[in-house]
Amino acid sequence: MLSRRSFLKMNAGALGAAGVFGCDWPRAIAQSLPSFPTDFLWGASTSAYQIEGATKADGRGEGIWDVFCRKPGAILNGQNADIACDHYNRYREDVRLMKELGLRAYRFSVSWPRIQPSGTGAVNDKGLDFYKRLVDELNAAGIAPFLTLYHWDFPQALQDRGGWLTRDAVNWFADFAGIMSRALSDRVNVWITMNEPRSFLGGGYVAGVHAPGVKWPVKDVLQASHILNLAHGRAVQAIRATSTRRVRVTWAPDCSPAIPATDSPTDIAAAKASTFASPRVRFTASAWWSGNAWWFDPILRGEYPSDGLAAARADAPEIRGDDMAVIRQPLDFLGINIYGGSYVRADASGQPQTIAFPAGTARADNGWELVPDALYWAPKWLHERYKLPIYVLENGLSVHDAPGADGQVHDDRRIAFMTQYLTALSRAIREGVPVKGYMHWSLFDNFEWQHGFRERFGMVYVDFATQRRVPKDSARWYQKMISR
Ligand code: GCO
Repeated sequence: MLSRRSFLKMNAGALGAAGVFGCDWPRAIAQSLPSFPTDFLWGASTSAYQIEGATKADGRGEGIWDVFCRKPGAILNGQNADIACDHYNRYREDVRLMKELGLRAYRFSVSWPRIQPSGTGAVNDKGLDFYKRLVDELNAAGIAPFLTLYHWDFPQALQDRGGWLTRDAVNWFADFAGIMSRALSDRVNVWITMNEPRSFLGGGYVAGVHAPGVKWPVKDVLQASHILNLAHGRAVQAIRATSTRRVRVTWAPDCSPAIPATDSPTDIAAAKASTFASPRVRFTASAWWSGNAWWFDPILRGEYPSDGLAAARADAPEIRGDDMAVIRQPLDFLGINIYGGSYVRADASGQPQTIAFPAGTARADNGWELVPDALYWAPKWLHERYKLPIYVLENGLSVHDAPGADGQVHDDRRIAFMTQYLTALSRAIREGVPVKGYMHWSLFDNFEWQHGFRERFGMVYVDFATQRRVPKDSARWYQKMISR
């Protein structure tokens, strides 16, 4: 009986895209694979708290997510990430799987409480040693490590001292960045200071559905956004001052572009204007995620957008001295997380008007609408505005995956998602947008914050009862994309 793998190897040439895994894909999926430059960097992303587990091992301190998971009702079915994907113990096996899939890069994050259990001061060498071992495994496998310093697991001890509302957080984060840079800049070339400030402020401090689960006044949240920007700037300075060689530095904001309803110049102009507009109303929970310039301009232009400051009014952040110069540190590329967008047309006066999603718009199992053209318009417009090369550091689909009778996971919807989104990205690149890489979110099914383990984003299925990893059909499809 031929093994599945040898059957595929024997027939790979004959099967082509339509049946690369010996399965009859729906015709919509079996379209030609989008083309990319030969040096395009294919990878996948994860984050410490979502996959590592070992939350009490080897001296790790408590983080705000450990505390939040104990809050009744905070996490679906009372789940937590104390084990998650057990990556802390299984990282060697996981890197072997990354190599088998042909990944050329892997984006991961560092658990700050694992490095500094009280958030400042003493370094936990066992925590640092884990990341040294992980990075050495990646480099030995020929996989470029993309290190994110802050992907939301903030030390609880610092939260107790005011968290992101105190300017002390700027020094706390810069010190943490310096510790990591001294330890790993000899073997990590790409540094990402923080992941999605808008998302973790919005989730944790506006909507209260993420750690630490508070609902601050808008003024406080906007002040915190300023302190985060300062912390990013000072961390970039710390990395450049302490790294043992020239490394590349950026951050990883999320971008939700407005997509033009038609290709008419007026709709395109309206969608572009809408993409960078700040909320015209106060930064309320409902308006929080609209407007990208508030999150991009300070770091890339050294100023808050005037419409955002006007909308914020008295809630605008307190800006001191050389704050904006500290925030605007030169970056080597723009890392960007893109999942979807909205649709906009020009009204009679040419102003942007958000319209409903087209009838029949596909949705992920977490309810997010699929908007493939977000991976065309967002890179295009971000490059026009900020003139930096781009890496897509997150893009993915939540599906309530489960193995079939054959024990495999036939995630055709994720393959369709990747085909459609990557086709849009391939178009932007053909038109000259310098997109240099794509990291799929995520490599593994993992702890999806308040949704626990229900929302599966992985190309690799994780059986959380046994920790068995099962590459889904999308992983094999991605392997083919990478190997062409
Ligand atoms: C985010 C985070 C990830 C999420 C992923 C799916 O963008 O919210 O970077 O940690 O898990 O985006 O929601």
